[in-house]
Amino acid sequence: MKKILLVSTILCVSTFLVSFLNTPKYKYSDFETPKYCGTTCHRDIYNQWSQAMMSQSYTHEWDEIEYFALALPHARLDEKVAEVEAGCNGCHAPLALLTGDIPPKPPSAGTRANEGVSCEVCHLISGFEGDIPYNFNYVIKPGKTKYNSRIGEVGSPVHKIEVNPIMKTGDFCGICHNEKSPYGVWVKSTHLEWKEGPYAKENVHCQDCHMPRAQSIKAAMGKVYPDVRQHIFAGAHDPSKVRGTIELKVYPDHSECEPGDALKLTVTLYNQKTGHKFPTGSVEDRLVWLELVAIDGNGTKYHIPVSRKGFPGEEYTISTKTLAYQDMGIPLKDPNFKGLERDDIPEGNRIFRMPYFDPQGRMTIQQWNTSSLGVDYRIGPRETKIENFTFHIPDKIKSKELTFKATLYYQLLVSSVGKYLKVPEEEYRPFEVNTAYAKIKIID
Ligand code: HEC
Ligand code: HEC
Ligand code: HEC
Ligand code: HEC
Repeated sequence: MKKILLVSTILCVSTFLVSFLNTPKYKYSDFETPKYCGTTCHRDIYNQWSQAMMSQSYTHEWDEIEYFALALPHARLDEKVAEVEAGCNGCHAPLALLTGDIPPKPPSAGTRANEGVSCEVCHLISGFEGDIPYNFNYVIKPGKTKYNSRIGEVGSPVHKIEVNPIMKTGDFCGICHNEKSPYGVWVKSTHLEWKEGPYAKENVHCQDCHMPRAQSIKAAMGKVYPDVRQHIFAGAHDPSKVRGTIELKVYPDHSECEPGDALKLTVTLYNQKTGHKFPTGSVEDRLVWLELVAIDGNGTKYHIPVSRKGFPGEEYTISTKTLAYQDMGIPLKDPNFKGLERDDIPEGNRIFRMPYFDPQGRMTIQQWNTSSLGVDYRIGPRETKIENFTFHIPDKIKSKELTFKATLYYQLLVSSVGKYLKVPEEEYRPFEVNTAYAKIKIID
C-alpha cells in the first residue's frame, strides 16, 4: 500500500516537471520579439496583443506580487511545492522557462521574460504531450516555421507557414488554461469545463468568443481578409466582457403586501455568455456574489440575506467575516499570521465559487498549495441557478411601495488579500455584472 502511494505521488509531481526537464534549453535570441513581428508585418495584431493580458502575463502587478512574495519563497521552504519556482513561468513567462532563466529577474529588470505569452510562444507550438492539454505540456521549437490554422493567399517573406489544425481548437488553449497543483488537484480547468459543456458539442471553440473574426488586414502585404482572428483575448480584466454574462430576474410571490407580512422572493441567474463556468480560471481569487435589497419610498434600504439550501459545504458560498488564507504565513515567514477576512463583502450574500483548501484544510488563495477542493457552486455554461429570499415587511413601514434590487457583483481578487499585499486597487474594485428590479404595493 505504502509503495503504491509513493509511486502515485511521484507520478503526480512529475507531470508538472516532465515537460520542463525534458525541454531543451534555448537562448532568448532563438525567439523573435513581438515587436519584430509587429513592426515588420502584423501591426494590428501586435497592437491588439499589447493591450491583452497575454502580453502582461509576467509583468502585471498582481502576477509579480504573487510569484515573488508568495510562490517563490514558498517553493524554497516546502519541497512539496518546489517545482513552482520554474513551473509558474511555463505559462506566464514561457521564454524564461525554455531558456532556463529561472527564476526570471523581476519585471523592472526588463529581461525578455517580460514578453509573456508572445507571438512566438503560440505560433511555434506544434501540439502537446499526452492526452490532456494542461500544465504547459506544449511541444515547441524555435525556428522559421510558424504555425497557423490556415495558409493565406499571400505567403510570408520572412518565415514559413505550416498548417496546424490544433490552433483552431480549444485543446490548444487548454495547454495553459488547465492546471494541476503539485498535489494533483485541478486548480484551473477552463478547458475541461468547456469540453464537458454545451459549446464544445456545438463546435464553438474558445477562439470564437475570445478571438472573434473580422474583416481586416493580417499582415503588411495589404491584403484584406474577411475573417481575420482578432487577437483581443478579452476576459475577466475587461468589464465589457464580464458585464451581462449572467441574466438576472427577481420576482416576489405577491404583488401586494401588508406590513408584517413575510414576502418570498426568487432570483434566477442564467449564464448566457460563457463557454465554461462562471467564474473560471483563477477561481481561488475571484468573487461573484448576489445581493438583494429592499428600498422603500423614502430611500431606506433593507439588506436581505439569502435563504440557505442546506447542501454540504454551503457555508463557503455565504459571505461571513471569518478568517482564511492562513497558509500565506509560510511564504511571509510569519508563524503567527492569523489570516485575512475570507470574503470582505456584506454578510449573508450568496457567493458563486469553489473553495480551494491547503493540506491543513484551510481555505487558500495559493493555488499551488491546494490539496483539495470544496463544493463547486459556480454557474455552468447555459445553466440557471435559483436563489430564494424571505423579507419581513417592517410593521411600521411608511411607504406605499417597495422596490427590490438584485445585483450580481464581480471582483477579480478578494479585497482583504489585495489590501494586505498592496496590490493596486483596480485589481479588486467590485463592478456590476447585472442588476434586476421588482416592485410591490403596500396596502393597509
Ligand atoms: C495565445 C496564443 C496566441 C498569441 C499570443 C498570438 N497568437 Fe496569433 N493566432 C493564434 C491562434 C490560435 C490563431 C488561429 C486561430 C484560428 O484560426 O482559429 C492565430 C492566428 C494568427 C494569424 C493568422 C490570422 C488568420 O486569420 O489567418 C496571424 C497573422 C497571427 N496570429 C499573428 C500573431 C502575432 C503577430 C502575434 C503577436 C503580436 C500573435 N499572433 C500572438 C494564437 C495566438
Ligand atoms: C502559453 C500559454 C497560453 C496559451 C497557449 C493560451 N493562453 Fe490565454 N493566457 C495565458 C496566461 C498566462 C494568461 C494570464 C495573464 C494574467 O492575467 O497574468 C492568459 C490570459 C488569457 C485571457 C485573459 C483573461 C483575463 O483574466 O482577462 C484570455 C481571454 C485567454 N487567455 C484566452 C486564451 C485563448 C482563447 C487561448 C487559445 C487560443 C489561449 N488563451 C491560449 C496563457 C496562455
Ligand atoms: C460562448 C463564449 C465563450 C467560449 C466558447 C469560451 N469563453 Fe472564455 N469567457 C467568455 C466570457 C463571456 C467571459 C467573461 C466572464 C468570465 O470571466 O468568465 C470569459 C472569460 C474567460 C477567461 C477569464 C477568466 C478569469 O477569471 O480570468 C478566460 C481565461 C477564458 N474565458 C478562457 C477561455 C478558454 C481557454 C476557452 C476554451 C477552452 C473559452 N474561454 C471559451 C466566453 C467564452
Ligand atoms: C498551466 C498554466 C499556468 C501555470 C502553471 C500557472 N498559471 Fe497563473 N494563470 C494562468 C492563466 C491562464 C491565468 C489567467 C486566466 C485565468 O484566470 O485562468 C492565470 C492567472 C494568474 C493570476 C491572476 C492574474 C490576475 O490578474 O487576476 C496570478 C496572480 C497567477 N496566475 C500567478 C501564478 C503563479 C504564482 C503560478 C505558480 C505558482 C502560476 N500562476 C502558475 C496559467 C497558469
